[in-house]
Amino acid sequence: MLSAMTSMSNKAGTEKSLWERVRLYASALLAVVLLPLLMACEEQAQEQKTYTVAMEATFPPYEFYRDGEIAGIDVDILKEIGRRNNVNFRLEDMAFDSIITAVQTGKVDLVISGLTVTEDRRRQVDFTRSYSGARQVIIVKKGSAIKGAEDLFNARLGVQHGSSGDIYVTEHIKEPERFTNGALAVSAMNAGKLDAVILDNAPAENHVAGSPELTILPTALAEEEYAMAIRKGNKELLDMLNSSLDAMEADGTLHEIIERHMRDNKPEEEKRAESMLGRLADDFRTDFIKNNRWHYLADGFLVTIEIAAAAALVGIALGFLIAVIRSTADLTGKLRVPDMICRLYLTVVRGTPVVVQLLIIYFVIFGSVDVNKVLVAIVAFGLNSAAYVAEIIRSGIMSVDRGQMEAGRSLGLGYGCTMRNVILPQAFKNVLPALGNEFIVLLKETSICGYIALQDLTKGGDIIRSQTYDAFLPLIAVALIYLSMVILLSHLLKKLELRLKKNER
Ligand code: ARG
Repeated sequence: MLSAMTSMSNKAGTEKSLWERVRLYASALLAVVLLPLLMACEEQAQEQKTYTVAMEATFPPYEFYRDGEIAGIDVDILKEIGRRNNVNFRLEDMAFDSIITAVQTGKVDLVISGLTVTEDRRRQVDFTRSYSGARQVIIVKKGSAIKGAEDLFNARLGVQHGSSGDIYVTEHIKEPERFTNGALAVSAMNAGKLDAVILDNAPAENHVAGSPELTILPTALAEEEYAMAIRKGNKELLDMLNSSLDAMEADGTLHEIIERHMRDNKPEEEKRAESMLGRLADDFRTDFIKNNRWHYLADGFLVTIEIAAAAALVGIALGFLIAVIRSTADLTGKLRVPDMICRLYLTVVRGTPVVVQLLIIYFVIFGSVDVNKVLVAIVAFGLNSAAYVAEIIRSGIMSVDRGQMEAGRSLGLGYGCTMRNVILPQAFKNVLPALGNEFIVLLKETSICGYIALQDLTKGGDIIRSQTYDAFLPLIAVALIYLSMVILLSHLLKKLELRLKKNER
């Protein structure tokens, strides 16, 4: 018996050790095969570090849209740095007056955007070494009375908002008119609204090449240097960028990139038709058909719809909650503390512009986290709309005759039950037109999304304008698309209203 047990355990022992050996071999084999693979993956994950980059991409030849993508000197410099250091760069096109804040708050890792080194900016960010020189030049209409800087004092001047040109003109000449980009300032001049535009020389040459009536004066206002900007104290990134720029300068790559882009720094040739209708057809072709520019509108349209619809849902849900809390406090004297919080919320939200709220949510609240911008917009517009929806619904609740509540209660229904089944359905019907109005406002309000570099419908039109210098058709197209959306929305609301009315009978 004992021996039998020993032999059994022995057998089991040998079997176990055999099994263990198999397992050992198998794991060794797996390790041999998988480890290098895992390590490679790991390495790749480490190697492919991605930096986010802010730029304002209406600045040819440094950054501009070509075939729907951002191209230019700055983009090629980044590509080359990426190749040399095995890192990735993700580009974010945003308003120029936001890009320094973006890097300062850590929203992006660096800025490359034809950005001039200035002492004021140096206080906020660290600059790399310079990679290109530039000048602030004066663009005027051919034959203009303005012949030099001394004639600018009585002229109507246009600049890009927040640019070094803006700073120079404001300090030394007078308050200029500020545009979101230089191209828009140039089209304002083409439309007779300005006498001169102060802009960096390279984009100025590009714009002038595209507008035969314009010319650049020979004397420059200021000499400048372009460099990249990063968050203060990020030494590792600064060193990588600087040493790459040094190497690219030494082996001629930097020079080659700049020369290549400067050589074809002009908008593509357009032949203009003679008749007005022919001109319009030409413009239509350049604005929408060429380079598939209509895509900017189509993609923007989808972004606008997405944000407006989701924000409306957030607005309804939160607004409804606030309205019920507030009217319950009014009607019953309960919920005093939540009511106070709601009131404070309404005061703050309705007391500040939605664009400021959007910027605060993006730059401050979600400051150092990498969060989807569509989500930021939905949160911002949703929170904003909730305040208005809340007051609309509350006014609806309060407009229902007090007797209705008393009747419900005297029938033995509880407060909540009367609210749900008697008051709210009537209130909803009463406020439907006002709610519809709020959604129409919300839909159009999303047009400020461009402030946080979201390409919504309005921004799509802006990009086309900055490429074709034609203000008319892109703006009309954008307006028509919003108008159609609003007409459709009103129609649907009307139908809903009729439906509710029918149910009443
Ligand atoms: N060099 C000027 C500045 O730094 C203008 C730069 C504008 N750049 C741009 N990508 N829009 O202020």
